[in-house]
Amino acid sequence: MNKLILVTGGTGYIGSHTVVELMNEGFDVVIIDNLSNSEKSVLDGIAEITGRRPYFEQFDICDKEKLDNFFRVYKKLDAIIHFAAFKAVGESIEKPLSYYQNNLVSLMNLLKGMNDYNVPYIVFSSSCTVYGEPDELPVTEQAPIKVANSPYGNTKQISEEIIKDTVDVNHNLKAIALRYFNPIGAHNSALIGELPVGVPDNLVPFITQTAIGIRDELKVFGNDYNTPDGSAIRDYINVVDLAKAHVVSVKRMLEDKCKSNVEFFNLGTGKGSSVLEIINAFEKATGEKLTYKIVDRRVGDVESVYADTKFANEELGWKAETGLEETLLSAWSWEKYIRNK
Ligand code: NAD
Ligand code: WQD
Repeated sequence: MNKLILVTGGTGYIGSHTVVELMNEGFDVVIIDNLSNSEKSVLDGIAEITGRRPYFEQFDICDKEKLDNFFRVYKKLDAIIHFAAFKAVGESIEKPLSYYQNNLVSLMNLLKGMNDYNVPYIVFSSSCTVYGEPDELPVTEQAPIKVANSPYGNTKQISEEIIKDTVDVNHNLKAIALRYFNPIGAHNSALIGELPVGVPDNLVPFITQTAIGIRDELKVFGNDYNTPDGSAIRDYINVVDLAKAHVVSVKRMLEDKCKSNVEFFNLGTGKGSSVLEIINAFEKATGEKLTYKIVDRRVGDVESVYADTKFANEELGWKAETGLEETLLSAWSWEKYIRNK
């Protein structure tokens, strides 16, 4: 019988790509999503790619009663991948309580459910935001956790602590926290991708929306950083590569290969790219000309951050493989697909 994996937030951006990779590897998947930041039609894209439809339950994981009921119905869950969370940094500063409520209560409900209904493994979506402005580059998993510069970032730090404290005393539970750098791109089929609501905060959706004419111009936030071209540097990772790391993590747990009850891995490419380099790579990959202008730095942005990937490469046995231009082209194909749908 196939192993059954619960994917919370499975109709969202990273979740949907992960569901595809899990199903391609022969896992059965049940998604819980309240559709607060995604659409049910994502399930059609998943079904078209994989030839199978995941189970889908629409409710809020913060609703403990509904979650308990779910665990009673889906008795034989082998593992959980927990993506469901609010993720907009700026919005979290405006609405801190909503972020603490949604991101922490959902996690605590799940951990309690795992204990009560005997689900032993959880993979958690963490973020490179826990490192803040790092002292040394590339960033290893041992780098100090800095004071968070937003309530969103703080929910990731607190979540990691909640997980650590919980698995420390519940020896039947194991966790892997994956610290993503900057996920970008879409599935090669262009049938699933990122669906930002309103004006995108993130660079690549803003670029593709500008190229297609929804936005007049891209604003490059700062060219006076201490970097070779003055614009800020990030580690942009292909979303399908990222999704595959979740499958590897689930298998690692199922095969009892974890070295401790909670493990942390950086998921990045190990290569930093500046904003101006991303613009050039996008233009080269797609043949589109991008309108942009340099403006002031964005408040709260760090100068440079990219991953030391040695631990993930060697211990997890996973490596990002897709090149930057191919990834940017996939983002562009997806943008064209959704606008012409
Ligand atoms: P997303 O918003 O596309 O997906 C999250 C999904 O969770 C959405 O479909 C939303 O409807 C659902 N959801 C939110 N709260 C819920 C709740 N209480 N109950 C049920 N469903 C709920 O976001 P994403 O980009 O796919 O991110 C997934 C995870 O990865 C998040 O935890 C995010 O913080 C983390 N992460 C994302 C990035 C990034 O740049 N995208 C980087 C680092 C970490
Ligand atoms: C990338 C670079 C901007 C938009 C955020 C979260 C982080 C993580 C990933 C969840 C920066 C520049 C952007 C634009 C620009 N998410 N930029 N013009 O800020 O690295 O990380 O997403 O955990 O926590 O903070 O990503 O895509 O917003 O920005 O010049 O219109 O692009 O200044 O240098 P960021 P981003």
